[in-house]
Amino acid sequence: MYKNEDESMVGAYTLPEVLECSDGKIIDNAFDWVHIRRPEILEIYKKTMYGYLPVRPDKTEFEVVSEKNDALNNTAVRKEIKLTFSMNGKTHSFVMLLYIPKNAVAPVPVFVGLNFRGNHTVTPENDVIMTGKTLDGEFVESRRSIHINRCCFEETVKRGYATATVCYHDVYPDSKDENSWRKSVYNLFYADESNEKFHTHASAISAWAWGMSRMLDCLEGEKMIDCSKAFVYGLSRLGKAALWTGANDTRFKMVISNESGCCGVALLRRDFGENVEIITHYFPHWFVSSFAQYACCEAEIPFDQHWLISLIAPRYAVIGSAEEDLHADPKGEFLSGAHARRVYKLFGIETYNENTPHPVGSHITGAVSYHIRSGVHDQNLADWEHYWEIADKIK
Ligand code: GCU
Repeated sequence: MYKNEDESMVGAYTLPEVLECSDGKIIDNAFDWVHIRRPEILEIYKKTMYGYLPVRPDKTEFEVVSEKNDALNNTAVRKEIKLTFSMNGKTHSFVMLLYIPKNAVAPVPVFVGLNFRGNHTVTPENDVIMTGKTLDGEFVESRRSIHINRCCFEETVKRGYATATVCYHDVYPDSKDENSWRKSVYNLFYADESNEKFHTHASAISAWAWGMSRMLDCLEGEKMIDCSKAFVYGLSRLGKAALWTGANDTRFKMVISNESGCCGVALLRRDFGENVEIITHYFPHWFVSSFAQYACCEAEIPFDQHWLISLIAPRYAVIGSAEEDLHADPKGEFLSGAHARRVYKLFGIETYNENTPHPVGSHITGAVSYHIRSGVHDQNLADWEHYWEIADKIK
C-alpha cells in the first residue's frame, strides 16, 4: 500500500472551510458556532467517520473492589473501582484504577485515560489487579509495569493531580474480528445484528470515547476530585479516542492528543505518513464502514482534522508529536492545531498559527498548544512535562 514519508512529495491541498455551514452561512460569532455549526460538524463526524456513541445505560453501579491508603510509596490513595452497566437484561463491566494524592487538602484535578495492555502494566505496584481481555495471550503477569512511563503516575500524583485509567480492551476489544463488538459495551444496547450492519453506524473509537465519559461519571462521585478540571488523554489510537471523547463530552476541560496521527489530529489532506487506505485496511473497526470509501481520495472527505480540534474550542486542546514518528505526520499534527485558530478566535482566544516556530524540544502554550519532542512513537516523561505545564495553568 502506498505511503509517502518524503516532505518534498507533499502536494498542494485545500482545506474545507470550518466556518461555512452546509447551507452556505458563514459563522462569525461564538453563539452561532456553539448552536449551529458545532452540532452540524459533530453529526458529520458521527455519520462519516467515528460512528454514534452508545447512550447512557439504564443502570450504572460503582463498586470499590480495593482501597489502599499508602500507595505509590505512601503518596497516594489508590482505589480500584468496578463500573458495571446494565441495560436490556445484559451487563458489562470494567475495572478502573485510580490514584488520588494523599496529601490533598482540597479536591484536585484529574487525568483520565485508557491503557493498551491492562491496568497492571502502567503502574509500578505489583498488587494492582490484572485487567484486559485475553485477545492474544499478552495479558500476563510478566507484562506488569512495562508501560509505567506512559502514564507517569508517581510524578502526576506528586504534582497534585489524581489519575485514572482503564484497559481499552475491556470497553471494546481492539480487533477486527467480527465478534469484537459483541464483547464490547455496545452489546448492551443492540440486539444481535450482523457485523456489517453494526459497522454502518458504530465503531471501536466511539466505544472507547463512551468508556472515558463513564469513567468521569464515576469520578464525579469522588469527594477529593474536582471534575470541573478533568483532562482526557491518550497515545496514538487512544489519542484518537481522547479527541473524540473531548469533542462529545464538554465536561473535559483539556483534551490531550499524544501522537494521534492519521484520523486523530493529523491533517488528512496532507499526503504524508499513514493514510485512509492503510488505516481502514488494518483497523476497519475503528470507523464506520463507509469511511473506507475515502481510501486514496482524502480530498473528498467533507472535513479535515482541524475541524476535530475546533470541536474542543474554547477548551484546551493539547497536541504532542515525536520527531521520528513520521507515520503520524508531526507536521500535519502541528498544522491541524494552527488551522483551528479561527474557531478559537470566535471566543476571543488567540492561538498559534502556521508560522509559529516549533523546533524540536520546544513548547507552544495557549488554549491550543503544541510540542514536539525528539525520539520515536511513545508517551513518556517529556510529553507529560508539557501536559502538566498546561494543566498547572488551569489548576
Ligand atoms: C498503528 C496505526 C496508527 C495508530 C497506532 C497506535 O500504527 O497505524 O493509526 O495510531 O497503531 O495506536 O499505536
